[in-house]
Amino acid sequence: MPSLPLPSATGNRQLAIENDKNRPSSPDERLPSAAVSVILPAAGSGTRFGAPANKIFQPLAGKEVFLWTLERFAGRPDVCQILLVVSPADAETMARRYGPALAAMNVTCVEGGPTRSDSVRNALAQLSAAAGFVCVHDAVRPCVRGELIDAVFARAARTGAAILAEPVAPTIKEVDPSGRILRTVPREALWAAQTPQVFRRDWLLAAYAAGAQATDDAQLVQALGHDVFVVPGEPRNIKITTPGDLVMAEAILSHQA
Ligand code: CTP
Ligand code: MG
Repeated sequence: MPSLPLPSATGNRQLAIENDKNRPSSPDERLPSAAVSVILPAAGSGTRFGAPANKIFQPLAGKEVFLWTLERFAGRPDVCQILLVVSPADAETMARRYGPALAAMNVTCVEGGPTRSDSVRNALAQLSAAAGFVCVHDAVRPCVRGELIDAVFARAARTGAAILAEPVAPTIKEVDPSGRILRTVPREALWAAQTPQVFRRDWLLAAYAAGAQATDDAQLVQALGHDVFVVPGEPRNIKITTPGDLVMAEAILSHQA
């Protein structure tokens, strides 16, 4: 399990760690534990899924989707806080049905906003003082494996910002509004972003301070001029968007067991 160094005021220590990856870290370069605050945005409405309730509550291999996701992070020694971002429409259900389970996992609920970026911004206002890094992970990606969380935490510790992503496999066409293919886009440099996405606390706070909106957090951090690095994810780290994804997740989890 990696422990993460706190971001230094100058950034020099980060650079030294990045340039000398094989050197064992001395104790003062590492936090003993509990460096990462985990934000799990769950405050959408699941429009594309099409169920009467938010898709986070869908049953999946014996428990709800969002509980699978939470359990990937609960109890990790490098996690100091878990913030579950909940829609006002779900707040009552969440407290009534899951209050004790959330308390047992030390999860704090935060009220979500109209967009995913608004939801993350609300959670950032509740960050623990102990958190040197912030990890944002969609509550609807329940299949992420601990080894991949380890890998993206470790990369962020060295670079300040890292995300899981997948090299794009299909042949990609650029198409005009009439449906005519304009060109085949070279895919060698194309990666599909996933979560977790992990950032130095100060970088992510600054990225959100401007009030911008984006479909992921890496875009906002990059817009400030920081380099963000990819860690190879895997196709089974799927996001539940439609009912078909739930069937896929069921199969993935049965193989992980
Ligand atoms: N999310 C959020 N707050 C919002 C919108 C989305 O916290 N205002 C969360 C979702 O709950 C989900 C994650 O962001 O865990 C990724 O979003 P997405 O898959 O798009 O979920 P929904 O927005 O719920 O689905 P849809 O776009 O189909 O309505
Ligand atoms: Mg959405």
